[in-house]
Amino acid sequence: MKFQDLRQFVSFLEERGELKRIAAPVSRDLEICEIADRMVKSGGPALLFENVEGFDMPALINIYGSHQRVAWALGVEDVEEIAARVRKLIGLTQGPPAGLVNKLRTLGDLAGLARSQPKMVRSAPCQEVVLTGDDANLDRFPILKCWPEDAGRFITLPLVISRDPVTGRRNVGTYRMQVYDRRTTGMHWQSHKVGARHFRAGEQARAERLEVAAALGGDPATMWAGSMPLPPDMDEIAAAGVIRQEPVEVVRCKTIDLEAPAHAEIVLEGYVVPGETRAEGPFGDHTGYYSLPDEYPVFHLTAITHRRDPIYPTTMVGRPPSEDFFMGKASERIMLPALQLTIPEVVDMNMPAEGIFTNYVLVSIRKEYPGHAQKVMYALWGLGQMALVKGIVVFDAHVNVHDLSEAAWRVGANIDPKRDILFVDGPADDLDHAASTPRFGSKIGIDATAKGANEGRSREWPAEIVMSGEIKSLVDRRWTEYGL
Ligand SMILES: Cc1cc2nc3c(=O)[nH]c(=O)nc-3n(C[C@H](O)[C@H](O)[C@H](O)COP(=O)(O)O)c2cc1C
Repeated sequence: MKFQDLRQFVSFLEERGELKRIAAPVSRDLEICEIADRMVKSGGPALLFENVEGFDMPALINIYGSHQRVAWALGVEDVEEIAARVRKLIGLTQGPPAGLVNKLRTLGDLAGLARSQPKMVRSAPCQEVVLTGDDANLDRFPILKCWPEDAGRFITLPLVISRDPVTGRRNVGTYRMQVYDRRTTGMHWQSHKVGARHFRAGEQARAERLEVAAALGGDPATMWAGSMPLPPDMDEIAAAGVIRQEPVEVVRCKTIDLEAPAHAEIVLEGYVVPGETRAEGPFGDHTGYYSLPDEYPVFHLTAITHRRDPIYPTTMVGRPPSEDFFMGKASERIMLPALQLTIPEVVDMNMPAEGIFTNYVLVSIRKEYPGHAQKVMYALWGLGQMALVKGIVVFDAHVNVHDLSEAAWRVGANIDPKRDILFVDGPADDLDHAASTPRFGSKIGIDATAKGANEGRSREWPAEIVMSGEIKSLVDRRWTEYGL
């Protein structure tokens, strides 16, 4: 299952009955969002709107709107297959494999890694049409207005590509872009994201411009990779190559010194000016609330390149779950082995849709000593984008953190609130409207593990109620006799 570009993925989804074409005329203002929202919340298919009023270009939405479709986008039936590959690679850092066969296999794995690095090509489908000057005009695309109070229309599924002005390292992030006019947009990289770091580095270096490309479409693994919370110096395009086990072809942009995925549908080339910001938002966000207007950089367009017959890929967010939940869940599963390398006592984690990634995370750990749950909370708050998580609930190893009913029961049963709830301060997500100060707020850690001696209590911890195996087998054997 390998997709070179978005249209191959569209055909694949259609064959599997997971994509619906809509021929009826629809408005890009609110109507598409309402249809997509109903679909994502009911487990419906991806949607290709072939008749967006005023456009001869189709708009594609909800391709990632289920766990299965995200897995297919990444070239597997189940994202756990990729997590297993990551686990195997990490295993290599823990000592050489034993035996000749394993050593050879490892060499093969490493060669595969080297082969999946981005590949530069000279001509690319995404540059079949090149528009510069006045022709480079965002009005050509069916960019959506999603919610009634949105400040305007937003490009919601771009791969925003920039380089660190000091180290030259590339970053790719999915950051929305509010259309201000035909040639300028907002650049909503939130303060803790890598694009924003590049912008700040540009300010410090007094750079005149920071070149930025925004690619729309491409193979579905690369499109997804923009949302991966990788460490700042890791290249998402290289990571996408490793995931799809095939290099991502990239092409040099026409007016800026950056590369974009060669099989993208559309590439917006341009720059931001360090120091220049403008009010962005409100935008109906994945928090389920409108994010408040705030100052963000301004993207200036220098060129648009696209395929001869581009598909405009988009997404919408709102009250969870939305498409971004399924995209983020894949990151959670694929990044877990890497997280366990740093915090090995972590058994499993769950970022439920309701917690929108940054509001709360449930973690199970192999607890070994008093205060271990708190140690894991601090470690998580010190790890990349986990620093933005507002609430962490820690459970014992045997707890199924994906079962929210079990989690709620254990929290109620296992905590003495004064002892087991921890408040700390730290960075808050840009979108956290509840924090008293923008981008800074308090965090809560809840220790729902069983407490032993030396954890502020002298009483014995009770055993959990479990029926004996003997009686369970007896009842299993006799079940039909009971006539139930
Ligand atoms: C559909 C979608 C839209 C997103 N929009 C934004 C956004 O507007 N701003 C932002 O900072 N992060 C946004 N994110 C989250 C980032 O893509 C994510 O945090 C990613 O790891 C950032 O990449 P970086 O680590 O290279 O900065 C969005 C994610 C998805 C799936």
